[in-house]
This record gives sequence, C-alpha cells and structure tokens, in this order.
Amino acid sequence: MDKIIAVLKGDGIGPEIVDSAIAVLQMIERRFNIKFDYRFGLIGGVAIDATGAPLPSDTLELCKNADAVLLGAVGGPKWDGLAAHLRPEKALLSLRQSLGLFANLRPAVLYDSLKSSSPLRADIVKNGIDLIVVRELTGGIYFGPRGFRDGPLGQEAFDTEVYSIAEVEQIAKVAFEIAMGRRKKLTSVDKANVLDSGKLWRATVDKIAKSYPDVTVEHILVDNCAMQIVKDPSQFDVMLMPNMFGDILSDEAAMVTGSIGLLPSASLGAGKKGLYEPIHGSAPTIAGQDIANPIATILSCGMLLATSFDMIAPANAIEKAVSETLKKGFRTPDIFNGSAGTRRVGTKKITEEIAIRI
Ligand code: IPM
Ligand code: MG
Repeated sequence: MDKIIAVLKGDGIGPEIVDSAIAVLQMIERRFNIKFDYRFGLIGGVAIDATGAPLPSDTLELCKNADAVLLGAVGGPKWDGLAAHLRPEKALLSLRQSLGLFANLRPAVLYDSLKSSSPLRADIVKNGIDLIVVRELTGGIYFGPRGFRDGPLGQEAFDTEVYSIAEVEQIAKVAFEIAMGRRKKLTSVDKANVLDSGKLWRATVDKIAKSYPDVTVEHILVDNCAMQIVKDPSQFDVMLMPNMFGDILSDEAAMVTGSIGLLPSASLGAGKKGLYEPIHGSAPTIAGQDIANPIATILSCGMLLATSFDMIAPANAIEKAVSETLKKGFRTPDIFNGSAGTRRVGTKKITEEIAIRI
C-alpha cells in the first residue's frame, strides 16, 4: 500500500512552501518509482475561518490515519486577537500532544556555500556548524498548570514548568541514541542553578548517561548556551533541551546558519509516524509574493522519507539536490547577499532547480 502523507498547508507562506515540497516529492516518486498518497487537511487560521476550530476533528483523524504529516506553518495577524484555545498555534500544540510527538529534532547545518550568509563573522564560522537540537515537545511550561487568577495586586497570570523523571528519561534517550550516530557529544541545556525542574532534568540526564558511556556529556545553563551559540557554534553536536528553551534556542541556532528559512524539523513519538515542518513560522508579510524560501520544508520531506518511511536513498537525493542548487548560486531573497556567482530567484524557480537535481 502507498504510504499516506497528511498534508496541512496552513497559513501565510504555508501553502507556497508546501506546494514546493510536494513538487520535489513528486520528482522523488518518478525517479525512485514509488507512489505517495497525499491527503489534504485544514489547520490553523484557514481552519478557523472554514470551521471555527484551529484543529478540526477530521484533520486530527486524517493525521492519526496517516503514515506521516507534512505541515507548512500556522498563524497570522488576522487571528491574533482570539483566545488562547482558539488561536492557530493551539492547533499545532494539540496535534503534537494528540499524536504523542514528544521529540522535536531540529538539525542546524551551515552549508559551505552559505558561509557568507551567516550573520556571524567568518572567523567564528570557519569550523562550520553541524548541530542538532533535540527539544522536548509535549511537556514543560507549554503544557503545565496555567491560567489567570486574582492576586494581591489584582489579576495575574501564571504558567508552570513541570517535568517528570519519566518525561526527561524519554527525551534524553532519544538524544543519546542520536549522539551515538554522530560525533558522540551531548550538551544538555537547563537552568539548574535556579529551577528545581532544571535540577531534576540534569540529574535524570546524568542517570541516562550511564547507559551511554561512549557519549561525552556536558551540562550548560541556558543563558550561557545562548551566548555560546553565537560565540562558537562549532562546539555543539547534539543539544538536548526542555520545550521552551528548545523553542528559543532553535531559532537562534537556525539563524546562525544563514536563514531561518533553511532549517527542517521532525517531531517524533514512540512509533514511526512523525510530523515534519520547517522551524520557521507563517511569515504573513511575505506570503503570496513568490519570495519565501521553501528549502526548510523541502528538507523536512527528506527527514520524513528517512525517518518515517526508511527511504534513505530518496532522502539523500533531496539533501544533495538542495546542496547542489545552493552551490550553483541560486538564492531566495533571505539568503541572497549579492556575492559573486549567486543569483536571486523566487520560490518557484528555486523549487524547479532543486527538483531537476533529484
Ligand atoms: C515552533 C513554534 C511553535 C512553538 C508555535 C507556533 C506554537 O514557535 O514550532 O517553534 O512554540 O513550539
Ligand atoms: Mg518556535
């Protein structure tokens, strides 16, 4: 049976970048003589407009029955005024939680051909960047007790960072397994000097580390980590972190590779099913202008093929096609800086160039 891919384009630039990704997947189907069954669903603002709910129940059903989910992006100013439980972002959080996708993998790689696009100085990026953020995705402050209440000074609001040992163990194991397949260095990020949840996080990572004696483990406080990413990003290999720190630091890690438009992500649970999406948002201000960078979404399809479908050769073909297209000098505006041998192109053109190199 053909593998089912649930496709959720979402809002803003979501539809254009997902169309690009599908064009590349269709090329994969031709070249490798395989067939995918694409099934489309509404999510985010477009779903609110059509049905009143950011994650309609038939979209959730679609994702539950699919072998993998490909997502564009959700959100936009039009829906910013809505209550938290009705916002487009809530759809993403509910989807991650309903599918049990507790591990979010965000690899950040600096392509040689894009070294001059990094906002960091040449001497800082000379050793390259090749790291992967392993972000806990279904716990922590995103899902802890929260609300509004009356306090001594009037109304107050609170969100709570809660982690159980079991949750930390589960994500730490994923990170250690990934480290075993890479350079065997794991940096665990926490705020153990202030937060009890950070102390528990650190102690639990140390406990799991005992089963992985080949992996060198270092603990780093989140504030220092934010600094080290811009000071010397080449020191990092696997970076394990709680949900909110992962949200923040993965944007930073993405940006130092040249553009947030380049980085893919995979969200995984206990089984093979995953949710694949670019790490950037819906970028409503550039939507519909054929200038969005589709590479993060295209590379997310590479992660999808390798991780959910065990299709390693097609996945490698996607990575190679992207890297060669960049080497040939094709640049969307976000990564174009006028350097010699490069050419500014739009979303459609760069997609074509990637597709013909599959
Ligand atoms: C991300 C996004 C989401 C998050 C939002 C859209 C809910 O920023 O995937 O990084 O905070 O997890
Ligand atoms: Mg984010």
